[in-house]
Amino acid sequence: MMEGMERPTRVLFVCLGNICRSPLAEGAFRKLLRERGLEAHFEVDSAGTGAWHAGEPMDPRARRVLEAEGAYFPHVARAMTREDALYYDHILVMDRENLAEVLRRFPEARGKVRLLLDYLGGGEVKDPYYGDYQDCLEAYWTVEAACKAFLEAHGPKGASPAGGA
Ligand code: 4NP
Repeated sequence: MMEGMERPTRVLFVCLGNICRSPLAEGAFRKLLRERGLEAHFEVDSAGTGAWHAGEPMDPRARRVLEAEGAYFPHVARAMTREDALYYDHILVMDRENLAEVLRRFPEARGKVRLLLDYLGGGEVKDPYYGDYQDCLEAYWTVEAACKAFLEAHGPKGASPAGGA
């Protein structure tokens, strides 16, 4: 049931390459929205601070993790733009390097950009680029938990699952 006519909340997940951590977070968040019937309330995307992997699909390990979790979605890597900084309401970054880079290049993002793991009490999602499948899986569990906490904080009122599971 839609309450009011507010536009969807715009959420952008950002990492360095947009092939591993931010696609994992986007997939986890999209899955949560599907499970909770909240897709109409959010507009979701991801981007990288760097453009080295622009145009590429996600990292094969990230893809395997998302497929195993029922959270895979089609993805093409892209670099974050100034338009993103202006458009999105929440820009959720994976580590302090991402945070500094977003603020350096896009001062417009100030006040909208924060570490995703702030929603879990703090910390960073470490770059899994040189890691293995297990590192990607653990990164997924971490970002999924943070996405749940983000949704509790910013989801539509009254949208928490009945029973509080
Ligand atoms: P991501 O991982 O930021 O989680 O997508 C990385 C992807 C590529 C590189 C580093 C991290 N790279 O150096 O190309």
